[in-house]
Amino acid sequence: MNKNSPSELTQTESVYLSAAKDANRTNLYCLAVLASLAVISTIFNLIGIFSIQRAVMYPSMMVCFTTFVLPIAIYLINDKAMKRDSVLQKKWFRNVIITCAFVGIGFICVTLSFHATILLAIPPLMAAQYRYRKKLFFVVFILTLVLVPVSIYGSFFFGTPDRNFIKGMLTEEESLILANRLKIATPKRMLDLFTHYTLPIQLGILAVLVLVRMIIFRNGKMIETQIALSEKVREEMEQKNEIHDKILNVLVNLIETRDVNTGEHVTRTKKLVGMIARALQKEDKYKSVLTDETVIRMENAAPLHDVGKIVVSDTILLKPAKLTADEFDKMKIHTTKGGELLDRLFSDMYDEEFLQTAKDIARYHHERWDGKGYPNGLSGEEIPLCARIMAIADVYDALISSRVYKPPLSAEEAFDIMLSDSGTHFDPDIMRVVVTIKDDLFALANNSADRRNISA
Ligand SMILES: [Fe+2]
Repeated sequence: MNKNSPSELTQTESVYLSAAKDANRTNLYCLAVLASLAVISTIFNLIGIFSIQRAVMYPSMMVCFTTFVLPIAIYLINDKAMKRDSVLQKKWFRNVIITCAFVGIGFICVTLSFHATILLAIPPLMAAQYRYRKKLFFVVFILTLVLVPVSIYGSFFFGTPDRNFIKGMLTEEESLILANRLKIATPKRMLDLFTHYTLPIQLGILAVLVLVRMIIFRNGKMIETQIALSEKVREEMEQKNEIHDKILNVLVNLIETRDVNTGEHVTRTKKLVGMIARALQKEDKYKSVLTDETVIRMENAAPLHDVGKIVVSDTILLKPAKLTADEFDKMKIHTTKGGELLDRLFSDMYDEEFLQTAKDIARYHHERWDGKGYPNGLSGEEIPLCARIMAIADVYDALISSRVYKPPLSAEEAFDIMLSDSGTHFDPDIMRVVVTIKDDLFALANNSADRRNISA
């Protein structure tokens, strides 16, 4: 009576998946922002607002655009990536994304400002925390240690505008400083630049990274706790479902032992319900109603269709002859009592949809399409679909089974009777589909252990 279909994700997988999806999406946004900044800085450089040396700008620009555009394009054209985590689960692609992010950060670091680098490095770091926490942190740390000096010395040699880089904002004095920078560096200048400029900045960066690492660590712990909790809840649910299934099996066995029908009836009707429902799934009319979950629910609820017989006395239930009108009236209450019993016994145990299906089947499986059935005299599509399917399975199986008051019919004879009752007893639309699986119904009848002596 497992309510999860095999294709359904476990709670833990869902938690991982949604965390990973969030991280991937943020990564993508970060790449897009970096790419936009690269475009803006390129345009500014081309129209001469930035005073970046073009010999530096162009090669890095080419590398940068290629590496930005490639992962975004792959990500966007693969529609699966936004639905499932399939693309980013591929190691090579993950590495491309990380590499591109850092090439981008490096580019901005060299061409714009290391302050921008730090600000832009934080979002990808935060986004990637769910997947590659430790590795990423150390890679960023090492790269930053390398990139910041590169930026500083790059400014020194190539005159990259670190501050006041917009030409119009430069004072005469600043222009002189800039011009001075363009002169060949001496070791003394390099050391000064490192001790007074690079070192304090790198210490500041280190502090920021430690802070980011702390946030990442904390968030990671929160996700792990969430996953552990959902695991626990899932285990508890499974245990609960197992107990419920055992109780249900006891109940079904109890009905079987009291009834004149054999256990084969329960097994066969369950199979028949499944076969009919699956055949209906192929029809446009039922496609949206009969999902895989609904069919499994119907199959699992089918063995409970006669649960109400528990309140019918043995003299009626085990009578080796046809019932009198009075006895038949008493037998009829097994439908309403079945519904009530399921409600009373299982309302806290099973999910609402399963319980509703089981109750509908128990209560309405003796209703007829023409409204002459019992207990409510419902007609047509007023009768729940699961009960209309159950009615076909129940009657077909009764016809092909032997009873103390009647011999079994052959599968063909039974099927002919069923067909003649289409539109009166049974839903004609469902019967039309049942005809298409006639061979399967015959095979089921002829392969059953209690019917092997009956020629088809
Ligand atoms: Fe029944």
